Amino acid sequence: MTDRYAVIGNPVAHSLSPEIHAEFARATGEDVSYTRILAPLDGFKEAVLKFRDGGGRGLNVTLPFKREAWRLSGRHAGYALEAGAVNTLAFDGPHIVGHNTDGPGIVYDIRNNLGRVVRGKRVLLMGAGGATYGVMEPLMREQPESLVVANRTLENAIALVGHFEKLQQYAARGIVARPYSALAGMQFDIVINATSAGLSGAMPDLPSGLFAEGALAYDMVYGGAAPFLEFAATQGAQVSDGLGMLVEQAAESFQIWRGVRPATKPVIARLRALRKR
Ligand code: ATR
Repeated sequence: MTDRYAVIGNPVAHSLSPEIHAEFARATGEDVSYTRILAPLDGFKEAVLKFRDGGGRGLNVTLPFKREAWRLSGRHAGYALEAGAVNTLAFDGPHIVGHNTDGPGIVYDIRNNLGRVVRGKRVLLMGAGGATYGVMEPLMREQPESLVVANRTLENAIALVGHFEKLQQYAARGIVARPYSALAGMQFDIVINATSAGLSGAMPDLPSGLFAEGALAYDMVYGGAAPFLEFAATQGAQVSDGLGMLVEQAAESFQIWRGVRPATKPVIARLRALRKR
C-alpha cells in the first residue's frame, strides 16, 4: 500500500517539497505519495492528528509551525531537542517523533554541493528566529573559527547565544551576538542569511566590506526576493540561494522515513533547469 506523507504550512501552495519527494520516490522505487496541507493558523495540531489518524506516515513542517511542531512532538530526535523547532514529523504508531533536518541540510549543501569547508572559517549568521535555532548545532559542530550572530533586535541574538552556550566549545574564538551596526570593519568567510527579511523584499542593514576574499553568501530562504544575494554579488561574494539546502533537508527527511537517502544532485539540477524556463 502507498505510504502517505505531506508538507504542512500556511501558506504552503508554493512549496517545492511535493516535486522533490516525487523525484525521490521515482529514483528509489519507494511506494510513497506526498501532498500539501494548508493548516489554519490556529488549527495546526488538529490537522496533524487528522493526517496521522487517517493513516499518514509523516509530515514536513514549514512556516509558521516549526516551533508548534516541536511542542507537539512526544519525543525529539537528534538536533531537534536543542533546536526548539522541528521540520520533520515521523509517526511511530500513535507517537509523534520530531526531527530537524534543516541543519544537516545546510551543512550538507555547503560541504558536498558547494565544496566549502566551515572548519576554521569566520561565519556570520544573520537572524535569531526559528530558522537560526534550527541550524545552530550542526553548523557549530563543523567547528568554525568564530560565529557572529547578528540580529535587528539584539536581545533575540543574545538570548539565542545564551541558549546555545554549550556549543561555544566548537568555535576556537567563540560565539557572540552583535547588532548589524557593529559589523563595520569586520570580515567573514561565510555569511548566512537566516532572516525572513527577503520575504518582504528587504535585507538586513549590512555595511560594505563584510565579505572576505572568496567569501560565500548563503540565503536560507529559497524562493523569496533576493536583495541580500544581489548585495553580496556586488561585493564580490560567491552566492547561493538555498535550493540545495531545500533538497538536502528533504533527502534527510526521506531517509528518516524510508531508511534510504536519495541522490540529490540530479534533483537540484532538474529544479534549476525548470526555474530557468
Ligand atoms: P522564524 O521563526 O520563522 O525564523 P521569526 O522568529 O519571526 O521567524 O524570525 C525572523 C528573523 O528575521 C528574526 O531574526 C527577525 O529579526 P528580529 O528578531 O529583529 O525581528 C529577522 N527579520 C525579519 N525581517 C527583517 C528585516 N526587514 N531586517 C532584518 N531582520 C529581519
